[in-house]
Amino acid sequence: MQQNTRDSGGWAVYRRLFSYAAGHWPMFVLAGIGMVVYALSEAAFAALMKPLLDGGFVEHDATVIRWVPWAIVAIFMIRGLAGFASGYCLGWIGRQAIKNLRQQLFVHYLNMPTAFYDQSAAGVLLSKITFNIEQIANSTTDVVKTAVQDTLTILALLGLMFYYNPFLTLFMVVIAPVIAGLMRYLSHKFRSYSSRIQNSMGEVTRIADETVDGHRVVKVFNGQQYECDRFEVANEYNRRMNMKLIAARTGSMPVIQLVAASGIAGVVYISISGILSEPIEVGTFVSFLGAILLLMSPLKRLTNINAPLQQGIAAGQSIFEVLDQPVEDCGGDVPLEKARGELEFVEVTFRYPSSQENVLDRLSLTIGAGETLAIVGRSGSGKSTLVSLLPRFYDPDQGSVRLDGCDIREYALSDLRAQISLVSQEVVLFNDTIANNIAYGALGVAGDEQIREAASSAHVLEFAEEMPAGLDTMVGDKGVLLSGGQRQRIAIARALLRNAPVLLLDEATSALDTESERKIQQALDGLMQNRTTLVIAHRLSTVENADRILVLDKGRIVEIGSHRELLAREGHYAALYQMQFHEV
Ligand SMILES: Nc1ncnc2c1ncn2[C@@H]1O[C@H](COP(=O)(O)OP(=O)(O)OP(=O)(O)O)[C@@H](O)[C@H]1O
Ligand SMILES: [Mg+2]
Repeated sequence: MQQNTRDSGGWAVYRRLFSYAAGHWPMFVLAGIGMVVYALSEAAFAALMKPLLDGGFVEHDATVIRWVPWAIVAIFMIRGLAGFASGYCLGWIGRQAIKNLRQQLFVHYLNMPTAFYDQSAAGVLLSKITFNIEQIANSTTDVVKTAVQDTLTILALLGLMFYYNPFLTLFMVVIAPVIAGLMRYLSHKFRSYSSRIQNSMGEVTRIADETVDGHRVVKVFNGQQYECDRFEVANEYNRRMNMKLIAARTGSMPVIQLVAASGIAGVVYISISGILSEPIEVGTFVSFLGAILLLMSPLKRLTNINAPLQQGIAAGQSIFEVLDQPVEDCGGDVPLEKARGELEFVEVTFRYPSSQENVLDRLSLTIGAGETLAIVGRSGSGKSTLVSLLPRFYDPDQGSVRLDGCDIREYALSDLRAQISLVSQEVVLFNDTIANNIAYGALGVAGDEQIREAASSAHVLEFAEEMPAGLDTMVGDKGVLLSGGQRQRIAIARALLRNAPVLLLDEATSALDTESERKIQQALDGLMQNRTTLVIAHRLSTVENADRILVLDKGRIVEIGSHRELLAREGHYAALYQMQFHEV
């Protein structure tokens, strides 16, 4: 029973894979014709043995001697052309399907909720889109070709054998179920190995990816040995799983061949022992034997097909598993052109799926349009989390977040996000020019002049102009060719250019020296004028001028008020301020 459900699961995956190729039916028809012709040409070759032997060798018939050599060449020419047509067409369909599937997976990644990325290792996701999908490519082309073409070939050969001698053929057919049973058993083995191989490949990619990414940390903490050991474990596991697959595959081949060879032995015995009422002519016998020998390699391929077939199913399952996960909720349909920027948190409670306690605890807060609110508090108190609810990276578990008096879940997600500029705690730069990084999200909309202006306000021009290509300088992978402060300034320029009514600054100037920070602060002050701004900062000197300052602790508001009010209250903020003041 359990095997049945697994089987139908495999079929469902395969059917679904085929739906990606369904649109290309003219190619399928061509491939089909190719495969039928190929199968017939194999049978024709076996059939040729009879006239060759009976007519040519036994009776020395002149016409037979003349046409048989030509027929051999013609058969191989037709067989070659048919093989090419089927191989090319199926390859074409397969690659087309793979391309579509890969594109679909990529688009799905783009639309997955943030929580999905929190739970998945980047390496595993990358491995799915590269390695696992390639496995499907093998499966959809080679497998189909072998399964259809070789099955047709086997049928054609069996047909020929039946035509020449039904009794002998029936004998051959009896052993077919034995082979089929063997194949069924092996297919389950193959599938479980394949999915383990794919998972282990994701693990290999993940560790390699982390090491490449964090090579500086690895170096300075002398983590080479640790990474090496970790990699060795994953690598060894991958090898072991592959070996099991190889053992199962190579081991299954001789077993099946042995069964088939016993069949041949039986045929030979029946033919020469005289059991049959009618004696068998030598031509018929050789044709028959030729057909059996020709049966061997398609049969062998059909057995081997299980490995790539199960690989394809395992890969398909791993891809569909992601594709079946729901994408981000794209919001409601309340129109939102340009928000005023009035924000409200109503009794917001939130926790990450993995966290034990609430990260935000029944937090209520109103921020007027155009107001600047600073958020301070201990590391881990929930500041970044609070801010990440606004662009709906996460949705609150209870309560609601409102923009202009309306729950943000009622706006279309893209409209909502268009109202928000964000400089996040970790700057993300793409491997492109400085200018394109600034214009990210506004490419083609923002003119050169605007980009320059933003670059100038965020003091990007200051360092960019000293570089050989100016704003067209490449920043390197993730911006490695720039300093931390330079990267931060590009991120600020990007937010400036976005010109959205809500501005979120999460430690946006933490990597800057005091002088640059002061200069950029001026630019930001100008920018904050008509927008609702949430500023998170550890350095209190940067938040003094905010309209209000909120002190957050364990997801609750402990104090809120202007700099002066809070100092006068002599509470948490005053204590923090005194501490930093003394440090300076
Ligand atoms: N993606 C996540 N998944 C699970 N837990 C998380 C995630 N991000 C943050 N947390 C947890 O939520 C809590 C609040 O994190 P948050 O990033 O909001 O703190 P923060 O106030 O911004 O701290 P910092 O000042 O260090 O940036 C922390 O305890 C953290 O461990
Ligand atoms: Mg933070």
